[in-house]
Amino acid sequence: MLIGKRIRLRAVEKEDLPRFVAWLNDPEVNRHLLLATPLSLTHEEQWYERILQQHSAEQPLVIERDSPEGWTPIGNLGLHVIDWVNRSAELGIFIGDKTYWNQGYGREAIELLLQYGFNSLNLNRIYLRVDETNPGGIRCYEHAGFVHEGRQRQAKFEDGHYIDLLLMSVLRSEWQSRNNS
Ligand SMILES: CC(C)(COP(=O)(O)OP(=O)(O)OC[C@H]1O[C@@H](n2cnc3c(N)ncnc32)[C@H](O)[C@@H]1OP(=O)(O)O)[C@@H](O)C(=O)NCCC(=O)NCCS
Repeated sequence: MLIGKRIRLRAVEKEDLPRFVAWLNDPEVNRHLLLATPLSLTHEEQWYERILQQHSAEQPLVIERDSPEGWTPIGNLGLHVIDWVNRSAELGIFIGDKTYWNQGYGREAIELLLQYGFNSLNLNRIYLRVDETNPGGIRCYEHAGFVHEGRQRQAKFEDGHYIDLLLMSVLRSEWQSRNNS
């Protein structure tokens, strides 16, 4: 369990899966995710079984918000394709409960995950891909310390058009100097 100021990150349980399916089938939530087809609970259960077998490479976590009713799930984030030789991983995130978009929860969750990735897992590079059409995501990542490093041209087909994917990353050294200043 990773504890932040307003949120905590915990491991995914089987009971979370129906909530994930509801979030991921919301067109506003999945628009900028690499998820083009409707998702069934069966598919999500298969994903869960797979990631349990691949724990060293795939670490999804639930984002929970501290509320008067207790800890409430609002989304999911994780480190994926963890490469232990080159010490890098890809970050993925969605806040499934749209009520909590643009309130800094994404940034706080990412900052907590970076701390875990660099200080506990001893990673050196955490990167992500984001749609060029996702200004809220891009801004959230910039706020969390990610820098732009390139673009994959016409890498995604979205709403009838090809769009570019932006590549962003943060290195451990950058993260350390940011936290020391
Ligand atoms: C992307 C996402 C994770 C960001 O989380 P969040 O909690 O909403 O983000 P934050 O509040 O930390 O930061 C968002 C920033 O973008 C800004 N923003 C939002 N929409 C914007 C827009 N259309 N243009 C410019 N800035 C925008 C917000 O004002 C905020 O900046 P600020 O802190 O300077 O005010 C969340 O919105 C989400 O899950 N979206 C749907 C799924 C998704 O896109 N996942 C990412 C795939 S790469």
